Amino acid sequence: MRRRRRSRRSGVGWVLLAAAAIAAAWVVWRPSIRTEAVSRGVPFEAELVQRGAELAAIGNCNACHTREGGPAYAGGRPIATPFGTVFSTNITPDAETGIGGWTPAAFTRAMREGVSRDGRHLYPAFPYDHMTRMRQPDIDAVYAFIMTRQPVVATPPDNDLTFPFNLRGLIAFWKLLFLERAAAPANAQQNAEWNRGAYLVEGLGHCGACHTPRNALGAEKRDRAYAGGETEGWVAPALNAESPAAVPWDAERLYRYLRHGFDDRHGLAAGPMAPVVRNLASVPDGDVRAISVYVAAMAGQPNAARSQAASQALARASGANAAPRGTTSTVAASLYAGACAQCHGESGRAPSNPALHLALSSSLRLPVPDNAVRIVRDGVHSPDLGGEPLMPGFANALSDAQLAALLAHLRTAFTEQPAWGDINQSIRRVREHDASALRARQKASQP
Ligand code: HEC
Ligand code: HEC
Ligand code: HEC
Repeated sequence: MRRRRRSRRSGVGWVLLAAAAIAAAWVVWRPSIRTEAVSRGVPFEAELVQRGAELAAIGNCNACHTREGGPAYAGGRPIATPFGTVFSTNITPDAETGIGGWTPAAFTRAMREGVSRDGRHLYPAFPYDHMTRMRQPDIDAVYAFIMTRQPVVATPPDNDLTFPFNLRGLIAFWKLLFLERAAAPANAQQNAEWNRGAYLVEGLGHCGACHTPRNALGAEKRDRAYAGGETEGWVAPALNAESPAAVPWDAERLYRYLRHGFDDRHGLAAGPMAPVVRNLASVPDGDVRAISVYVAAMAGQPNAARSQAASQALARASGANAAPRGTTSTVAASLYAGACAQCHGESGRAPSNPALHLALSSSLRLPVPDNAVRIVRDGVHSPDLGGEPLMPGFANALSDAQLAALLAHLRTAFTEQPAWGDINQSIRRVREHDASALRARQKASQP
């Protein structure tokens, strides 16, 4: 009697286990989609290809799918994640190593569901959690653009991920938890520009992939959208009401910054934002305006305290109240006078130089000094590559201790923000990040 009950119980156990296995397989398994000689067979309309080019620029596809010094769209660029490095794939229309044999259906599934043609789940380092909001005609246009690029034979290196993140099947469960396959937000109360902006920012433009903080499993925190994120060892500042900007952004200034990479009250787009604005330079004006309108609305109207701080910063920047607010060390203050003041001015700006008055710098106002460490160490380069740097790098001129002292001084002298915590830790974090990024790039450039 007893034994019978136990065996019946274990029978139930087996049934449950089998059901769980079937459910898991159902979650994980995706069919392979057969290949077709698409790139050779179908002629694409020039107009469709052109629209695809503009959309691909908004999607920043080239920035991720081109390795340093490598052929366009041929992949192999390391994307650092907290779980290790993912290498972007070859999306040129090469039939063997690229996506030349992919049908529109296979391409659409990759963009919408993050599933490769052969049924493998793709890592969300590819921001399909945003691309999923693209409308079909836009996916078709990007497809036409990609399929008319130069085919390149190239295979990316294997990913470098820690266990268990190296198991692709688990991505299926990540998607169950975090992939929201919904259209972009639409709001009938808002005008067409806002709605177009919402579609581009939340979808193809994937601004939140960098500007939104992520949870322990690498998914964007929906309740903290645009509250500031991290990418490639840079802080992507908050774009919502928590924006650190000394002067609150408005649609006009956002437009200037996104279109030209520079706004005279905010400074230059540096680091991973530089390729974004380089791409936006080729996008139709209306789309850049729509993005600006949507982002400005997201930040909202500044409150009274914010407006007051902004007018104080502006007064200081215009020289009306130019005296530094104070210093943390006279040694650092003289470092500033010797190395920086010729461009940024004795108290912030030299009239003959376009350098930003540091009272208007966002990087000095962020919660951590990482971006400021990078800018002072590596300098500032013009967004249209090449040419003299706008600001020289001071990596060889300053010791770590001098850099830390200088940054502490800048924070106190030019902002009303509380002193940064451990600046030395930031310097170490930046250096470690760069060392591992360099190793990944070297791996990608090996034949
Ligand atoms: C933030 C970086 C990033 C951006 C931006 C990006 N991708 Fe990717 N993409 C990746 C990575 C990384 C992979 C590989 C993921 C993996 O191996 O699981 C990938 C994979 C893909 C794949 C699947 C290829 C295959 O062989 O399975 C396609 C298709 C693709 N991307 C197209 C695009 C297009 C089109 C755009 C622009 C609209 C774009 N990607 C923008 C990082 C990016
Ligand atoms: C690949 C990551 C990445 C993507 C994608 C990205 N950004 Fe950025 N963004 C950054 C980083 C990093 C910075 C800081 C750069 C600096 O200090 O110059 C930045 C800076 C900015 C700033 C300046 C903020 C300030 O107060 O100084 C704005 C505005 C901005 N981004 C808007 C956008 C918009 C709009 C999009 C989408 C169209 C976007 N970004 C997409 C990484 C990104
Ligand atoms: C040759 C002129 C020049 C010198 C010297 C120089 N800078 Fe700059 N700096 C610039 C320019 C140009 C920019 C980029 C334009 C902008 O953002 O206004 C810049 C940007 C910056 C920023 C980023 C502002 C932002 O966007 O948040 C910081 C911080 C900064 N400089 C600090 C320093 C410090 C510290 C020194 C001295 C160690 C220094 N600079 C020396 C010209 C210079």
